[in-house]
Amino acid sequence: MRDLGLKDKVVLITGGAGVLGTAFSQGFADHGAKLAINDLKEEKALECIGKLTGPAVEAVPATGDVSDDADVARMVAGVVERFGAIDVVVNAAAVQIYPPKSITDMEPGEWDFVLDICLKAAYLSTRHVAPVMKRRGGGKIVNIASIAGHRGTAGGAAYSAAKGGVVMLTRQMAVELGRDNINVNSVSPGFTPNRLTTIYEYEALAKGAGQGPEPSHAAGEFTPPALGRKGEVEDFVGPVLFLASRWADYITGADLPVEGGRMAAR
Ligand SMILES: NC(=O)c1ccc[n+]([C@@H]2O[C@H](COP(=O)([O-])OP(=O)(O)OC[C@H]3O[C@@H](n4cnc5c(N)ncnc54)[C@H](O)[C@@H]3O)[C@@H](O)[C@H]2O)c1
Repeated sequence: MRDLGLKDKVVLITGGAGVLGTAFSQGFADHGAKLAINDLKEEKALECIGKLTGPAVEAVPATGDVSDDADVARMVAGVVERFGAIDVVVNAAAVQIYPPKSITDMEPGEWDFVLDICLKAAYLSTRHVAPVMKRRGGGKIVNIASIAGHRGTAGGAAYSAAKGGVVMLTRQMAVELGRDNINVNSVSPGFTPNRLTTIYEYEALAKGAGQGPEPSHAAGEFTPPALGRKGEVEDFVGPVLFLASRWADYITGADLPVEGGRMAAR
């Protein structure tokens, strides 16, 4: 039982062409998994696939809006048609409002937008993937939450509420799906060197709308007191692969903080 048991597993990664998603994709590819890379636009998913290296990378785009039930149904059906199964789902798609907005300044539409992509999408993907996993005899779902789901962040109400919801939804899904041999866990990254796609960039990406204000790098300015360094993208890959692997067969409903010990020092 030395290897992770991911060879030839079919892995769907939502937001898979993002910064962390691309790193997760490479990690799964390194272990011989077959990949379906979701993102909003096919070009972005293809760009991610083009970056993947290795002797026999097998990856296809699985384009669609993860907050749209019909899109998710179509996407999941497409992956099953291509690979015959889905063994692992990593729910990594997300957006952020930037600059941060207080609860009183935030518009209801902005709240819905963030909640739909950061929280509802994890429900939607599970709604369509769990029956596929059940037919296969089980599977692994890894939801990407955030340290923001465990503590308040100034001006980040929608994101924090959504990520806190992801942690709780993970437990709920674990309870409901455990008897089907589907493990559901979450990873809560701390600050990473990149920043999240913002609502403005999303709009530009999705609708061809004008680009909003170019955000400066918001995250990563805080150094966690325990390890005394900021996270690198690679720091988040191993924990996700672990929870997707057979090494985590007896773990479900858990949240794994990957944040340099920031919460240990609160
Ligand atoms: N960057 C950080 O500091 C940080 C910290 C904690 C948690 N996280 C979490 O890690 C995950 C990955 O974040 P990242 O840093 O790689 O950000 P990112 O912005 O690079 O990646 C997110 C991806 O999701 C895609 N996406 C957005 N809306 C979508 C939709 N409706 N349908 C399909 N795809 C959509 C975007 O196009 C993007 O490629 C997210 O869940 C995020 O909340 C990030």
